Amino acid sequence: MVGRLRLWSGYVLFFYVVTHLLNHTLGLISLRILEAGRHWFVLMWHNPIGQTVLYGALFGHFFLALWSLYRRRALKLSSWEWTQWILGGLIIPLGAIHVVGTRLAHELYGVEPGYPWVLGSLVAGDWTGIVRQFGLPLVVWLHACIGLHFAWRLRPWYRTWLPLLYAIALLVPVGGIAGAAIALRDVADLAQQPGFLANLFERAHVPTQEGIANLYAISRNLQIGALVLLVGVLSARPLRDLWERRAGVVRLDYDERRSVAQPTGLTILEMSRVAGIPHASVCGGRGRCSTCRVRIGGQDRAKLPAASPDEQKVLARVGAPANVRLACQLRPPPGHYRVTPLLPASAGPVEAYRRQPQAHGGEHYVAILFADIRGFTSISEGKLPYDVVFLLNRYFRATGQAIEAAGGRLDKFIGDGVMAIFGLTSEPQAACRQALDAARRMGDALSDLNEAMSGDIDQPLRIGIGLHSGPTIVGEMGYARATHLTAIGDTVNIASRLETLTKEFTAELVVSQELLDRAGADLSAYESHDVEIRGRQGRLTVRAVKKVSELTALS
Ligand code: HEM
Ligand code: HEM
Ligand code: FES
Repeated sequence: MVGRLRLWSGYVLFFYVVTHLLNHTLGLISLRILEAGRHWFVLMWHNPIGQTVLYGALFGHFFLALWSLYRRRALKLSSWEWTQWILGGLIIPLGAIHVVGTRLAHELYGVEPGYPWVLGSLVAGDWTGIVRQFGLPLVVWLHACIGLHFAWRLRPWYRTWLPLLYAIALLVPVGGIAGAAIALRDVADLAQQPGFLANLFERAHVPTQEGIANLYAISRNLQIGALVLLVGVLSARPLRDLWERRAGVVRLDYDERRSVAQPTGLTILEMSRVAGIPHASVCGGRGRCSTCRVRIGGQDRAKLPAASPDEQKVLARVGAPANVRLACQLRPPPGHYRVTPLLPASAGPVEAYRRQPQAHGGEHYVAILFADIRGFTSISEGKLPYDVVFLLNRYFRATGQAIEAAGGRLDKFIGDGVMAIFGLTSEPQAACRQALDAARRMGDALSDLNEAMSGDIDQPLRIGIGLHSGPTIVGEMGYARATHLTAIGDTVNIASRLETLTKEFTAELVVSQELLDRAGADLSAYESHDVEIRGRQGRLTVRAVKKVSELTALS
């Protein structure tokens, strides 16, 4: 909730700055047009709604930033995060006098806060005023762009729109600063005329010397107030730690070797960070990416607080079951828990939006394909290693493309063989049809490859494919970077066995009748065998297809 409010307050401020900078850009044309543009700007922002939204966002954003500083336990920020925080902090000393000198000067002294007043004051003042005024848009823009980049980079549309956003991020500030600079030069030129500035200030209803001193004092007090709040928050942090230490200890077991104990109050992600345990957190702990998710168990699991609606939404997006929580949002009460991070620490933005209901393990009806090149050892004999790798890679590309085009998931390459899964996102019948389609496409791809390489290989490559379907355990398995979604169980073993039977039946494809029935495919024209499978009761009926490309006739 806090994160979302801060983001929305950031959006409002960003929109304000964009309109302000677009207005400044008109300074490239003339002072008159610049001031005319301001009337549209004033129409948008100088009304009760505009002012409430703008100043509500400004103060809200500031207090939410302080709150997030208080809540964060481990101040181990990335260099980008540090940059954003420091730039955010700089906005106050740079911008205070500008806001006080325009809005508050209008409220207190009836000053007309237009470009003549702001630019005239800069010309009349010393160079520090100009540096501050032109430093402000740079600092604000960088601060906002870093924030928006981190908020948006996980969204699926971001990559597509990046070139356009990049152009906007460059053009808006350059246009605004250039327009303001040209306007400042124009006013400085006009100020050479005697009495010009005096006339300009008079029309802007400039306050008395005393009034101006008062505005500076208010600006200074605002900055001191912000600093006091910042120091207050920083000193409240150790007190909070003391208080929480008295409340009890949280113990987390990551595995047999790694266990962490910390005072209550930290999130699981913060505990990982404090203990130096690598933990994925693509959004930096803002509860948006889901990459920090952990399976949580242990004797005190029942004590855990329920997930907030925001956390539930993110968990639902990735289809997480009840025992999975976001490590960056969960602050366990004192107790003993077991946690298993579900993504490798190196997980990137892609994982954040990938929906895999099977990722946490479950039984699904899938079709499995195993394929192998027949007699590859004799083909590779007498060839240079370079040629063998080249040949294999062409074969892998052709088969991989055939599997993906049919809607399957390439599971792994094992030596010169390949395993693929169908049905992770489709119904059983569609899965079985996809598997048959993939086999046919692989046959076609192999014919094309043989033709293309006829001069390079003595004999054409031949393939053996085994297909079977059934309920299978599917889940993310492995360790660290070697973790991926795969399937295990009888169905997989049988598909692999059918692939080896292609040699015995001198066929390119051996497919179980079970899969054909599910697919609604009639292969009764092909020879049928009842085969015995080790570890399985009863015999399995299969069909052997000599040339897999003949399957083209299948619908
Ligand atoms: C990106 C950095 C800037 C921020 C965040 C900013 C912010 C503000 C704010 C909050 C106001 C008060 C508006 C109101 O209460 O309605 C204001 C007014 C104004 N600013 Fe800026 N400003 C920035 C840069 C500049 C620059 C570079 C100039 C050009 C010299 C400029 C010229 C003005 C003028 C002329 C007004 C009076 C507009 C009006 O209220 O009609 N600002 N600005
Ligand atoms: C016109 C002025 C400002 C604009 C346009 C702006 C814009 C933004 C945006 C778009 C974000 C990203 C929101 C998110 O990720 O939740 C953000 C975050 C933030 N802003 Fe601002 N901001 C402004 C002023 C300030 C000020 C005055 C401060 C502090 C004194 C500040 C401190 C922060 C902090 C601490 C964050 C969050 C960083 C984090 O959670 O890691 N901002 N801002
Ligand atoms: S770190 Fe992104 S959701 Fe937890």
